[in-house]
Amino acid sequence: MRIPPARIHFSEADRATITRAIDEVLSTGQLTLGKYGKQLEDEFARFIGTKYAVVVNSGTSSIQIPMHIYDVRGKEVLVPTNTFFATALGVLHAGGIPRFVDCDPETFSVDMDSLRSQITNRTAGVVVVHIGGIVTPHMADIQELCRKHNIFLFEDAAHAHGSSYRGTKAGTFGDSASFSFYPTKIITSGEGGIIVTNSDKMNEESRLYRDQGKATFTANIHNKLGYNWRMSEPHAIIGLQHFRHLPEFIEERNRLARVYDRTLKGVQGVKPLRLAEGSVSNYYKYIAMLDERIDRAKLKKVMREKYDVGLSGEVYELPVHLQPYFEGKYKRGDLPKAEYLCAHHICLPLYATMTDADAEYAAASLRDAIALV
Ligand SMILES: Cc1ncc(COP(=O)(O)O)c(C=O)c1O
Repeated sequence: MRIPPARIHFSEADRATITRAIDEVLSTGQLTLGKYGKQLEDEFARFIGTKYAVVVNSGTSSIQIPMHIYDVRGKEVLVPTNTFFATALGVLHAGGIPRFVDCDPETFSVDMDSLRSQITNRTAGVVVVHIGGIVTPHMADIQELCRKHNIFLFEDAAHAHGSSYRGTKAGTFGDSASFSFYPTKIITSGEGGIIVTNSDKMNEESRLYRDQGKATFTANIHNKLGYNWRMSEPHAIIGLQHFRHLPEFIEERNRLARVYDRTLKGVQGVKPLRLAEGSVSNYYKYIAMLDERIDRAKLKKVMREKYDVGLSGEVYELPVHLQPYFEGKYKRGDLPKAEYLCAHHICLPLYATMTDADAEYAAASLRDAIALV
């Protein structure tokens, strides 16, 4: 494909460094919970600006572990319906009840009126998801709301490595936060995730939970309902090497986003999402609203077949409350703003090795394809 929806990039030099380090851990036998995982934790915490970071085996476990620690069993957790299913899974698997909140088409994040109206005495906490790498400008209001009701604020920052709002980084607004290192993310460890926090309790207990709820690494005494959520050293080696390129990846993505801003100006039927003043996105996704008369599926097909351009996956195509798993609990029309935004946006292709000419071609193809559908 001339312009694929995404492309994962490890330079030859990085692949050689990773191979050498994997060879080292194969020869020492230190294959899990070793120095590379620790290094990734130290460097990630320093980059985000939290006291602690704890590596785990997926972004999903980096949500589930904190939910166990907040002890959400039998309680409601407010979750934006415009998210990946894993946000709700993290709550469900810790015994909590996700209660879905509508989302704002201007930010793709929680709608403040919907959030306020759903807080009750059954609410244990709020999860905010920085969709596409965009931090909502309402974070201060959300923090205030959570303080007032004495409930936790958790950030699912799976998309938002390095994003910020008014100088505050994603991952530092809440009591704790999760990141994913899944292959489609800006940086990857193959599979993996990380919990960040300033809380001593969250840090210490996360380490117990990820290792079968064991009281100590060496003794088989279990005092928590943990699981095997450990990150292996080969995964940590891959993640550490990729993470060290994060600032340059973000810079490249921002450069490409500026190309899209410029080339999509005046294109009929597409309106790129405008970031609030002070919002710095890592551009995990470049999101644009489509005129509601445009058939998205048909547009994607024309882009693919006629122009050889793959539009990236939506964030998201279907809100979580309409997933078949929740059938009977919710119906279409319950959270209308999220349903609208999910149905009427596209994500332009964006990856680190893309050139400005590639982005110009993708934008021109979009303009021409819209005229055909
Ligand atoms: C918003 C969001 N939350 C959670 C996850 C789960 O991460 P993982 O796939 O690493 O388990 C993902 C990604 O895949 C995601 O996009």
